[in-house]
Amino acid sequence: MRRNPPFIAGNWKMHATLAEARTLISEIVKAAPGLSPARLVVIPPFTALCEASKLAQGSSVGIGGQNIYWEDKGAFTGEISAPMLKDAGCSYSVIGHSERRQFFGETDSGVNRKIRAALRHGLSPIVCVGESLEEREAGKTIARIKTQLDEGLREMTREDMGRIVLAYEPIWAIGTGRTATPGQAEEVHAFIRKDLEEKYGNPTAAYVIILYGGSVKPANAYALFKEKNIDGFLAGGASLEAGSFIQIAKEALRAYEEE
Ligand code: 13P
Repeated sequence: MRRNPPFIAGNWKMHATLAEARTLISEIVKAAPGLSPARLVVIPPFTALCEASKLAQGSSVGIGGQNIYWEDKGAFTGEISAPMLKDAGCSYSVIGHSERRQFFGETDSGVNRKIRAALRHGLSPIVCVGESLEEREAGKTIARIKTQLDEGLREMTREDMGRIVLAYEPIWAIGTGRTATPGQAEEVHAFIRKDLEEKYGNPTAAYVIILYGGSVKPANAYALFKEKNIDGFLAGGASLEAGSFIQIAKEALRAYEEE
């Protein structure tokens, strides 16, 4: 039996001027009541967070940042802290996105420190894991995910796990149009669920939201959501248009309601 209603998050990455952000968030807020009980979360660039929060106020749409630093404040030029995201109206922060790992040198131990900072300040971390194409082709997918979970979630408690969202994003599927098949995604999601079960037991493991990300579109959302351990999506490109983001939520809801 499925525990969680669809959780649909849109990571805008380094896109959207303020004007574009206003239009996008307004359309999503307008559609949100018709998409209940799906949870919608938008993750704009830092510059648009305050405006997005204002426009989402009073709606069910959650706002998230794309990254945080682990210290609360200080001489860390260019960084943003968890209290700052809270102050800007966020309830979530993406942590350990593969683009941060690949281009900005993020490590599993840094991810662990960032998760702690987020939790300390009442933000729900959306923690990303995923393997590269070379790792997949070398049969190292599960080993890679296992290390990311072991190191990233080190010393997290059951209570912490109640607030952490996980996202499996195979690097080879991000921005490539090459989505993991539902079977490929489910294999990793089921592994993650089992790993959580071994560490935290049930019902904790059963309720952790595990998202899939990597070329999610309206056309593949239904089949992916049909898989037992896929609780929703972290969409990139398709979240930059209100129409396709909303349609992804509708497709997941359609699969959810059939159960
Ligand atoms: P795309 O949906 O553009 O492949 O991006 C996925 C992603 O990285 C979301 O965090």
